[in-house]
Amino acid sequence: MQFHSLILTFTHSLIESFTHSLIKSLSMKIALIGYGKMGKEIEAIAKSRGHEIVSIIDVDNKEDFNSEAFKSADVAIEFTVPAAAYDNIKATFAAGVKLVSGTTGWLDKIDEIKADCAGGSTFFYASNFSLGVNIFFALNKYLAKIMNQFEAYDVSMEETHHIHKLDSPSGTALTIAEGILENVDRKTSWKEATEGEADELLIEAFRRGEVPGDHSVKYDSPEDFIKIEHSAYSRKGFALGAVLAAEFTAKNNGFLGMKDMLKF
Ligand SMILES: NC(=O)c1ccc[n+]([C@@H]2O[C@H](COP(=O)([O-])OP(=O)(O)OC[C@H]3O[C@@H](n4cnc5c(N)ncnc54)[C@H](O)[C@@H]3O)[C@@H](O)[C@H]2O)c1
Repeated sequence: MQFHSLILTFTHSLIESFTHSLIKSLSMKIALIGYGKMGKEIEAIAKSRGHEIVSIIDVDNKEDFNSEAFKSADVAIEFTVPAAAYDNIKATFAAGVKLVSGTTGWLDKIDEIKADCAGGSTFFYASNFSLGVNIFFALNKYLAKIMNQFEAYDVSMEETHHIHKLDSPSGTALTIAEGILENVDRKTSWKEATEGEADELLIEAFRRGEVPGDHSVKYDSPEDFIKIEHSAYSRKGFALGAVLAAEFTAKNNGFLGMKDMLKF
C-alpha cells in the first residue's frame, strides 16, 4: 500500500514537472506599451496563457524603454494612440525588442517601418487582430471579386465604434475598403461621406456608447441588396489575437501580419 502511494506520488510529480517545463518552454516575457483598455485585456490573456509581463510603459514612464526589464522582453505589444505609435515602434526597435502593434491611424509612416524590418527589426501589424474579422476580410475580398461583374450593384460601407475612438474611419474599415478597391474596378477611392461620385466608395462612420466594433459592406441594386457584417461582442477577441501574434512573432522575423499567421 505504502509502495503504491510512493509510485503514485512519483508519477504525479513527474507529470507535474513535465507540464511545468512544457508551460515554461512556451512561456514568453512580454512588455506592454499602452496600459489602457486593450493593454489591460492583453495582460489578462497573456498571463492566462502562462506568459510573464516584464514591463508596462504608458505616458508617464517612457524612460522605461531603456530599462533592463523592457530589453529582456521576447516581444512587446503596443496599443496606444495614433500620435504615439510611430515613436513607440522606433523606441522598441532601438531597444532591440520585437514588436506587435494594433494601434490604428498612423499608417502613413508604415513604409519607414517596413524599411527598418528589411534592416533586421521585427514588427507584426494588424488593423484588427480578431479571427472573425480576418475571416470577414477574406469573405469581403471574395465577394468583391464576384461583384466586380455586376455593375447594377453599388457598394458602400458602414462602421460603428465607441465614442472614445480617435481615428475615423476605423483602421479595420480601411482594410475592408482596400479589399474592395483592389477588386471592384468601378471604385477608385474611398470617402467618409454619405454622398459622392460614382467611383467613390462611401464609408459612413458612427460613434455610439461603448460599441467594441461593427463593420458592414452593402451591395445595393434596384432589385435587392447583399450585406455582409461583422460585430464584436467585446475586446477579448482582439486581445487574444494580439497575444497569439506575439507568440508567432517571438518565433519569426521581419515585417509580419495576419496573413503570415493565419493560413488563408
Ligand atoms: N488592431 C486591433 O485589433 C485593435 C483593437 C482594438 C483597438 N485598437 C486600437 O488600439 C489603440 C488603443 O486602444 P485602447 O482601446 O486600448 O485605447 P485606450 O485609450 O483605452 O488606451 C490607450 C493607452 O495608451 C496610452 N498612451 C497614450 N500615449 C502614449 C505614449 N506616448 N506612450 C505610451 N502609452 C501611451 C494611454 O495613456 C492609454 O493608457 C487604438 O488606436 C485603437 O484603435 C486596435
